[in-house]
Amino acid sequence: MIENESTSGMSWFLQRTLYFGLITCFFILTGIVYRDYPTADKPIGPELNQEALAGQALWRENNCQACHQLYGFGGFLGPDLTNVWARMPRARFDKILNDGYQRMPGFHFSQVEINALVHYFQAMDQSGQGTPSYQHPHATTLTDLAVTYGEHQNGLPKDVEAGARLFEQYQCRTCHQSFRSGILAAPDLSLAMVGNSPEQIKQILKSGRGLMPPFAIEGKAADDIQAFLIWLSEHREPLMALDGEDIKVEWSRIPWFSYSK
Ligand code: HEC
Ligand code: HEC
Repeated sequence: MIENESTSGMSWFLQRTLYFGLITCFFILTGIVYRDYPTADKPIGPELNQEALAGQALWRENNCQACHQLYGFGGFLGPDLTNVWARMPRARFDKILNDGYQRMPGFHFSQVEINALVHYFQAMDQSGQGTPSYQHPHATTLTDLAVTYGEHQNGLPKDVEAGARLFEQYQCRTCHQSFRSGILAAPDLSLAMVGNSPEQIKQILKSGRGLMPPFAIEGKAADDIQAFLIWLSEHREPLMALDGEDIKVEWSRIPWFSYSK
C-alpha cells in the first residue's frame, strides 16, 4: 500500500514536470519562430538584384518548380537546380531552355529572359549547396578508395594510379559518386566498362555524351583513365567494403530557403 502511494506520488510529480516542460518548450519554439521571421533588414534567402528578381518571376510564372527543386523543395521530375549554374556551361543552359531536353520541355525564351534566369541561378548558386549530401567533405571519392586500397596491397599498377589521379584532377567526382548515381544522374563508374566498349569510353572522354561534358581527354591520359575504370570494375567488391562508412547529411549546414520574399 505504502509503496503504491509513493509510486503514484512520483508519477504525479513526473507528469507535472513533463507537462510544464512541454509548455516551456512550446513558448521557446514560438519565440524562436517569431524572431526568425523575415523583415526588410533581415530577409530570408539570397539578395536578388533587379535582373535576378525578373528571373525569379519567370521561374514562378512557368512553374519550373512543378518539376524542379531548389534546396530539395519542388517536384521530382527534373533535377535540383540550386547549383545548376556551377555545373553547366552557358551554351548548354541556353540550348536546354530553348529546345528542351528529353522530358524537359522547350520554352523558347527571349535572350533577355534567359539572361534573367541566368542571374537568378547565379544568385541561387551563391546562396549555398542545394544537395548537401553530394560533395560532402568526408565523402569517399573513387580516388581515395583506390589509393587506400593500394596502401593495403603493395601499391596500384602505374597506369591505374595515374588514372585515379586524373579522375581527381579533372574533378570527375563532382558528378560521379562512388557506387551510386550522382549529380545529373551521372552513373556509377565502377560499372562503366559493363555497358561500354573501350572505343566508346575513349569517345566519351574526348567528346562527352548526353549531360557528360566533353573533356577532350586523349592519348596517354585516356589510356590511364580507362585502365582505372577497368581496375574499378574488377575490384568493385573490396572497394565497396572500404566505402562502408555512411555519409551523413549535416542538417545544420543547410541554409534556410524561402519561396516568398
Ligand atoms: C514538365 C516538367 C519540367 C518543367 C515544367 C521544367 N523542367 Fe527543366 N527539366 C525537366 C527534366 C525532366 C529535366 C532533365 C532532363 C532529362 O535528363 O531528361 C530538366 C532539365 C533542366 C535543366 C538542366 C539541368 C541539369 O542539371 O541537367 C535546366 C537548367 C532546366 N531544366 C531548367 C528549367 C527551367 C528554368 C524551367 C522553367 C522555366 C524548367 N526547367 C521547367 C523537367 C521540367
Ligand atoms: C558535369 C558532370 C560530369 C562530370 C564532371 C563528369 N561526368 Fe562523366 N558522365 C556524366 C553524365 C551525366 C553521364 C551519363 C551520360 C549519358 O547519359 O550518356 C556520364 C557518363 C560517363 C561515362 C559513361 C558511363 C557509363 O556507364 O555509360 C564515363 C566513362 C564517364 N562519364 C567518365 C567521366 C570521367 C573520367 C570524368 C572526368 C574526366 C567525368 N566523367 C566527368 C556527368 C559528368
